[in-house]
Amino acid sequence: MTPELAGSQVVIEILYLIASVLFILSLKWMSSPTSARHGIWAGEAGMVLAIVGTLMRNGLHDYHMIAIALVLGAIIGVPLGNVAMTAVPQRTALSHAFGALCVTLVGSAEFYLRTPDISRFMMSVLSIEVILGGLTITGSLMAAGKLQEILPQRPLTYKGQNFVNFVLFAIAVAIAVTLVLHPEQKALFPFMILLALIFGVLLIIPIGGADMPTVISLLNAYAGLSAAAMGFVLDSKLLIIAGALDGSSGLILSIIMSKAMNRSFTNVLFGAFGQVQAAAAAGEAKPVRSATPEEAAAILSAANRVIIVPGYGMAVAQAQHKVRELYDALTKRGVDVRFAIHPVAGRMPGHMNVLLAEADIPYDRLIEMDEINGDFPQTDVALVIGANDVTNPAARTDTTSPIYGMPILDVDKAHTVMVIKRSMNPGFAGIDNPLYYLDNTLMLFGDAKAFVGSIVRELGGGH
Ligand code: TAP
Repeated sequence: MTPELAGSQVVIEILYLIASVLFILSLKWMSSPTSARHGIWAGEAGMVLAIVGTLMRNGLHDYHMIAIALVLGAIIGVPLGNVAMTAVPQRTALSHAFGALCVTLVGSAEFYLRTPDISRFMMSVLSIEVILGGLTITGSLMAAGKLQEILPQRPLTYKGQNFVNFVLFAIAVAIAVTLVLHPEQKALFPFMILLALIFGVLLIIPIGGADMPTVISLLNAYAGLSAAAMGFVLDSKLLIIAGALDGSSGLILSIIMSKAMNRSFTNVLFGAFGQVQAAAAAGEAKPVRSATPEEAAAILSAANRVIIVPGYGMAVAQAQHKVRELYDALTKRGVDVRFAIHPVAGRMPGHMNVLLAEADIPYDRLIEMDEINGDFPQTDVALVIGANDVTNPAARTDTTSPIYGMPILDVDKAHTVMVIKRSMNPGFAGIDNPLYYLDNTLMLFGDAKAFVGSIVRELGGGH
């Protein structure tokens, strides 16, 4: 190696080292709303350094193809960065599909370049790479399609489905083992990828559309692991580190989401949960008490302590800016207003934090479930805005409820509960909410944005 080459190799290693540190810091900072922006910048800077380092690698001669790829990537990436907040889960799924496509293509190229002189270890890692990559491509596309409602959201199940899936996966693994022992059997390789692609489709078919966020974060873990495997194949420490970070954070996130919904992984993956929704609250109509915006405004302005509980309905209605105006109007009157954040309120992790931060609501007013639950008995008004399941007391008391055991926000313990939603329709879990029939509950029927706007007008605030 000439001194210049050795020098550039050192520069590349240093760039990769800094990029790895930035990726780790990025994840750490993204775990808190106050530092999340720094986390995004650190991740972006790390990625730029990783790309620069890769472009400096010895052996790259034709930069034309790379320039075309960068332009194509930007053409696809820029619009993907501008989707509505509610479409972020499917956008994330598409990113995983692209990442997995890249991993699978690189893995295939390496296979044909190296065989038959490929070590058993390398062939094992390469098989893991393309099997995980292949199933992540189609699995993520299916997940994005279901969330975007291009594909039917309801779970498609049939007898023996898990068995069929298992057999298919087992055949792919058997081919991988054959290739490890006999890499010269090149003709088997495309079949292994084909089976992984089919497996990805079949894996997602039985899962209901609303379970997709959990599944997407699991696919995130698969994409990360396949990228780490690619790191071994390409002998890139940076890829191994980035893939391992991606894989483990995806897995941890899916576990957190499953826990907060009180569901096991196997239940999410094989339970066809969405089917429960078909049995949605078919019970007889029970009486509820409702109130007008004027009455709601009067109750709120007479309160000392108010806790606002945002949920999926606030996101759909894009009511966060009106909620900010309500916060301002009440705070101006000396009311103590805080926000209770349930870990799975909405449809993606951190959904409520992001929306409320977008409306510039101070971070220190957003309180996590465990911290705020003890305060509801001393709270004058719990104002639920478009949240349903995360406030359902049946999760505490009704052992037959599908959400029994799920941790919830104890809003029913507040002196008065007011619930803004459009109807008596159920939420994600498709079940009735006994909260609405309690003596201390008032239903505020209407669209979240419009209703909060009316309350703000009554309070003499807003623009
Ligand atoms: P949900 O239980 O889904 O309830 C949302 C409520 O918002 C609905 O009952 C709906 O009632 C109301 N709503 C819809 N549009 C509205 C509008 N424009 N204005 C006012 N209200 C509106 O939401 P949640 O309490 O946030 O709970 C989230 C659920 O999603 C949980 O079951 C959770 O397990 C699940 N989940 C969450 C995640 C993550 S990571 N957050 C991932 C997967 C699943 P109306 O139709 O009567 O208006």
